[in-house]
Amino acid sequence: MALNFKCVYIIVVALAITSAVDKGNFKSCEQSSFCRRLRNAKPQDADFVLNLDTLHVSDNAVEAELRNEEAEATFKFVLTSLHGNIFRVFIDEEKPLHSRYQVDGALNGELQVAKLEVLERDKEKVVVRSGDNKAVITAEPIRIEFFKNDVLVAVVNDKGLFNMEHLRPKASEGEGEAEHTKEDPGAWEENFKSHHDSKPRGPEAVGVDVTFPGALRIYGLPEHADKLALRTTQSGGLDPYRLYNLDVFEYEVDSTMALYGAIPVVYAHSDKNTVGAFWHNAAETWVDIGNSKDTNVVSSIVNLVSGHQPENTVDAHFMSESGVFDLFILMGPTPKDTVRQYASLTGVAPLPQYFALGYHQCRWNYNDEDDVINVVDNFDTNDLPVDVMWLDIEYTDGKKYFTWDPIKFAHPNAMISNLTSVGRKLVVIIDPHIKREGGYFLHEECLANDYYVKNKDGHVYEGWCWPGSSSYPDLLDPKVQDYYKGLYSLDKFHGTTSDVHIWNDMNEPSVFNGPEVTMPKDCKHYGNWEHRHIHNIYGLLYTKITYDGLIERSPDRRPFILTRSHFAGSQRYAAVWTGDNDAQWPHLQASFPMCLSEALGGMSFCGADVGGFFHNPDTELLQRWYQTGIWLPFYRAHAHIDTRRREPYLFAEDVRMRIRNALRLRYALLPLWYTLFREHETTGEPVIRPLFYVFPNDPNVVDVDNELLVGDRILARPVTEAGVSSVSVYLPGGANEFWYDVEDFKQYQGTGVITIPVTLDKNPAFYRGGSIIPRKDRPRRSSSLTHHDPYTLYIALDSNKSASGTLYIDDGQSFNYRNKKYLYLNFEFKDNTLTSSLIDKTDYPTDAWIERVVILGPPAGINKAKLNSKSLGTVSLETSYDGENRSLTVRKPGVNIREPFTLKLH
Ligand code: NOJ
Repeated sequence: MALNFKCVYIIVVALAITSAVDKGNFKSCEQSSFCRRLRNAKPQDADFVLNLDTLHVSDNAVEAELRNEEAEATFKFVLTSLHGNIFRVFIDEEKPLHSRYQVDGALNGELQVAKLEVLERDKEKVVVRSGDNKAVITAEPIRIEFFKNDVLVAVVNDKGLFNMEHLRPKASEGEGEAEHTKEDPGAWEENFKSHHDSKPRGPEAVGVDVTFPGALRIYGLPEHADKLALRTTQSGGLDPYRLYNLDVFEYEVDSTMALYGAIPVVYAHSDKNTVGAFWHNAAETWVDIGNSKDTNVVSSIVNLVSGHQPENTVDAHFMSESGVFDLFILMGPTPKDTVRQYASLTGVAPLPQYFALGYHQCRWNYNDEDDVINVVDNFDTNDLPVDVMWLDIEYTDGKKYFTWDPIKFAHPNAMISNLTSVGRKLVVIIDPHIKREGGYFLHEECLANDYYVKNKDGHVYEGWCWPGSSSYPDLLDPKVQDYYKGLYSLDKFHGTTSDVHIWNDMNEPSVFNGPEVTMPKDCKHYGNWEHRHIHNIYGLLYTKITYDGLIERSPDRRPFILTRSHFAGSQRYAAVWTGDNDAQWPHLQASFPMCLSEALGGMSFCGADVGGFFHNPDTELLQRWYQTGIWLPFYRAHAHIDTRRREPYLFAEDVRMRIRNALRLRYALLPLWYTLFREHETTGEPVIRPLFYVFPNDPNVVDVDNELLVGDRILARPVTEAGVSSVSVYLPGGANEFWYDVEDFKQYQGTGVITIPVTLDKNPAFYRGGSIIPRKDRPRRSSSLTHHDPYTLYIALDSNKSASGTLYIDDGQSFNYRNKKYLYLNFEFKDNTLTSSLIDKTDYPTDAWIERVVILGPPAGINKAKLNSKSLGTVSLETSYDGENRSLTVRKPGVNIREPFTLKLH
């Protein structure tokens, strides 16, 4: 057994050094029989007709029978109107041979229904309205048109590809799902015979196309290492975007292949309108994308010549292996509305602890306790801030989670105290595979209590992962959930404290010897569900359990969890990273579109391994990665076990200095990041935003994904290309939009592409005119040491010489903010006066004060400032312009940040 594992390990390591993704390990659509069936179907191959004689109307929904005559199958169709401009279309079989799986865990609690009225009905169609949204439901074949303010924005089954394969045994015609990479025509029959109850199970795929008239681009469907704007897959030989959580070794960029996460939401966007669709299904799913700009090339040319400009159209064809039909149409009409509608369904990320936004230092692996302490010492002596140290799998006793290596990590408490004495934290990895070793408490308890997932024959499933032979907890079982939560308690997981947080990796789940490196689809879970039905939520369930466990363990601390596998709703429990990237420039470039796509899918708390996981980055790439990584919400360096050590202090002083500068800028901006996370929690707005989100009316930004906005206050366009001396930056907004270089405050207008000269020191980023950016500019070793530090407010004036911005402050760690122990401030600058006021009637005591106010694009002729507040009365303050009059600084306003004040320039 040990030998076998060693072999797997050596192969894995050898591949890491030599090769890129082995596509042969993963299915193409053609090799996935349900994808092949649905993708190659002709319109109305399967005829589904609504029987409007059976129409039943209630305050919030319409229901009717849906019939597929050929299959002799009857379904129930329900269209519901939901609060916040959302429609839901739900279809299930009336008398199924087997129940279809309905996803549990993605939606955030009960949905709020909204009023719906029937405007018209006859035998052919029914028209319903809810607010300014309208749906026209046509009976034969079923088709639903959605209108926003009487403009057609989405059509369900426009192309006639709707299908719900009837759960009916037709063994002779049967075409099963190949469990292995290569097509295996016998697999369905195999399933047919071996299914756990006597009734056989046939093909049960479900699919539909949704057309978005007028849309220019379509975004979403994380996780793929691809451009932000989804590419046309219906022509040009690309496979559909695949959503099937997989551990893809050495993944490639610019690819529609599946990765670790699956969030089945799309946003179709034009400069006039945005609308979304959320396909609520946890089974393997493929999504074919069409965009008329690519598919109708010939007619585009004809139209160009004739001067006729037809409307562009995009469409998405969702295809899932099983499950009910459950589709939400997010009616927009702006990107902000649409993303918030998605958040209203699946929830938001709760405010993280402040430290979680600082810098994280990880590697596979820090060797022992001394190594960990030595690394942070070196950060300190080199003036490099760091908040969190991470331990990968080697900290355990032989890959047995919830244990420590008795030699290398014999005194975890002492090591942890060393970190926490300056406010630092520890994150340790806990993976779902459980080592099958006699005497290991977790394995013995799982065996004794029947907590493991079973194989198709009903025996405990065994697969291979880091520990060698492993079994996997059945996370669908409420008993297992309860048990697992308890494992995090301090008396079970010895050596940990409430400052230890958790990294959930390999939770797709990854199974080295399983089909496509995961669990076979015919494995069995609690409730008699096959793994195929629930695959994409295994990781979501795992992180939910971890979250609940950490809350139980430390009720007054907000948990920090990092997950690799994720699904819709994972944002409620965990941050995510983009997995095993490579120390190559294209992977650095991919980090922005990947995290932007995640952010649109609700997972704002996203980052990519700084430096690249596999291989050794050269110093240029490493520096650029540190500079780029500060603009993503999760900022962690990580490296494969076979790479050379690359902690920033190991490099020459010029490299160290650039990394230090990047880290310092990240730390200076933590008050802004924290504010944005709080605002995400209250509004659902993403923390990082693509340009189209903030400038929806600008058609030029629809493909921009090498830039992002932090909230809507900073535009970042880091250098992600090797050896360049300048970069192009698209500054949106037009002549009235001002942008200020974050470093030298040079002012630009938002009139399109500019060229910025760059050296290795330059990390181009711009404050948006009209915003106020709170910073803490004093360098410290960790973020918690900045807690009472003073603020500097950067006021970037717009063309009217005004600006505004918010700042959120609390204790940075507990849940007291939910009991009004926080400050939420609004800063407003106009008519040469800065006013600070409380947005909410809450309080949080702090010593932090305002050290400086820096005004960018300042008014001329200012000599002095006068501050007025209740406790300070009126105070006269010094002001000074910088050499080029790009900024005006007001020194030492001195007022406590929680006190409302005015500051007048004169
Ligand atoms: C795979 C993860 O993606 C990687 O970050 C980690 O270092 C290894 N597993 C080992 O735990």
